[in-house]
Amino acid sequence: MSYPEVTTPGADDLRRLARSLVQLLDSARQLALAEQGTNELAARVEEHLGVPPQDLPVVSQTIPMYQLVDVQVAFERWVEGDPRRSSEIIGVRGWQRRSHTFGELLGTGRTFRVGIGPADYVDVPDSPDSTKSCIQFGILLMADEGERWAMLVRIEDRGPFKQAVLEVVSHDKGRSQHLLADLRRLAVQHSVLRGQVLTLTQGEGEYGAFQFLRRPTLGRDELVLPDATLSQVEEHVVGIAHHRDRLLAAGQHLKRGVLLYGPPGTGKTHTVRYLLSQLTDVTAFVLSGQGLRLFGQACSLARLLEPSLVVLEDVDLVAADRSFGPMGNPLLFEVLNQIDGLGEDVDVTFLLTTNRVDILERALSERPGRVDVAVEIAAPDSDGRLRLFRLYGRQLGVAELSDDDLAPASRSTEGRTATYIREVVRRAAMAAAFEDGTAAIRVSGEMLERAAIELLADRSALTRSLLGGAVEPDAEPPIHGGVAFAPRGWVGYGPMRGRDEPKPFGAEH
Ligand SMILES: Nc1ncnc2c1ncn2[C@@H]1O[C@H](COP(=O)(O)OP(=O)(O)OP(=O)(O)O)[C@@H](O)[C@H]1O
Ligand SMILES: [Mg+2]
Repeated sequence: MSYPEVTTPGADDLRRLARSLVQLLDSARQLALAEQGTNELAARVEEHLGVPPQDLPVVSQTIPMYQLVDVQVAFERWVEGDPRRSSEIIGVRGWQRRSHTFGELLGTGRTFRVGIGPADYVDVPDSPDSTKSCIQFGILLMADEGERWAMLVRIEDRGPFKQAVLEVVSHDKGRSQHLLADLRRLAVQHSVLRGQVLTLTQGEGEYGAFQFLRRPTLGRDELVLPDATLSQVEEHVVGIAHHRDRLLAAGQHLKRGVLLYGPPGTGKTHTVRYLLSQLTDVTAFVLSGQGLRLFGQACSLARLLEPSLVVLEDVDLVAADRSFGPMGNPLLFEVLNQIDGLGEDVDVTFLLTTNRVDILERALSERPGRVDVAVEIAAPDSDGRLRLFRLYGRQLGVAELSDDDLAPASRSTEGRTATYIREVVRRAAMAAAFEDGTAAIRVSGEMLERAAIELLADRSALTRSLLGGAVEPDAEPPIHGGVAFAPRGWVGYGPMRGRDEPKPFGAEH
């Protein structure tokens, strides 16, 4: 007689069996909880709070997406801030879990099953070179000695723009509000935006995005401007920041507006870069073109994160854009009104640049006080031209040439801008390279003069105009590049829009 072969179960079979048993127990538990009109998540939250959460008030707060990372930082700081505090992070399992409010998740027993799973994280940039892992859907079970809270972090994608939502459940509404206030304070204090150079750009459709820019490092000797001009700019932008406390004590206002104007290519943007290099502790917002629509958002943040600098590049481009304000006012007027509305005691500098001051004149004269000082950044004088030749020709031996050697080239570039002179040097270097293909490139005074004359004779008027040649009376409006700083490394802050902007977390205080 033969018996069927009996095989001993292998490790895989045991694992499968164990998994099935766990699932069975899990289902049984879920069923049992559902019978009682609750779910696994609610049971866990109840264990933490000590009372059924379904009956407790939920205090919620929406925040702009770009502050999700600040909320994460605030939460971590909150836990680290006191040894009596603790927290545990749990996630939620269940069908369409992300589209429910905390109350709905806690309150559903029979309708759909809500279990505990891992929290969802997203990597969000927190500097030009790094990202931080942030909870985008998860529950924080927080405790501070005897006090207990459960806070859901989720993203709401239903409205016109995405936003993050914090929902807090505790015994007492006041205690929940208190926790949110603590987190707001920490978010502002330790904001990853603080001390950074940022730009707000209009994204797809009505949405915009935040980007971290690398702070420029431009020495004073790399910016060629008459001493008096540079000192005037420095005094208003950097000087006031240095004497902040004394000026405040003396009842002086700190908010200031500085306008840099002059033909294209004279160094307005270069001056901005220099100032950004100097103001290493200052949070800076650089807005240009359509990005100016997000000016209101930048202002709220600038106030929160003061001392700050708000740079409005090429403001003439939006002077006539009427699509921004509710009253159909030109965008520039709205911008000027918002500058006015910011309050006098905030340490915020507005730095505006334009090469069409004629367009701005009316707007500025109708709204006095928004800009305290207008500084002309003009084409370089003869001293400036010599400095520019030496600056851009420093690796070509030009720095060693005498003033007399450079005089003819300087004369040939009279009335031309810094950009133009830089191009003359580049062309002279190219010519030198072609002449002698072996030795290190050296450029003489004559070569510079020749390059200057040739560039002048360049048949393409556009080339000259692009380089910011002398401004001829009937010249076409200058063509210029919009974006001032090439952002390196995309920084994926969530959508925002100009109108009805979400208030930054912390702005209430
Ligand atoms: N004053 C200056 N000193 C040194 N370099 C300069 C100066 N002005 C311009 N340059 C050089 O020319 C480049 C272009 O100048 P910049 O972008 O600052 O011009 P702009 O005045 O902002 O012109 P636009 O009105 O077209 O915006 C700079 O990146 C820099 O290399
Ligand atoms: Mg510029």
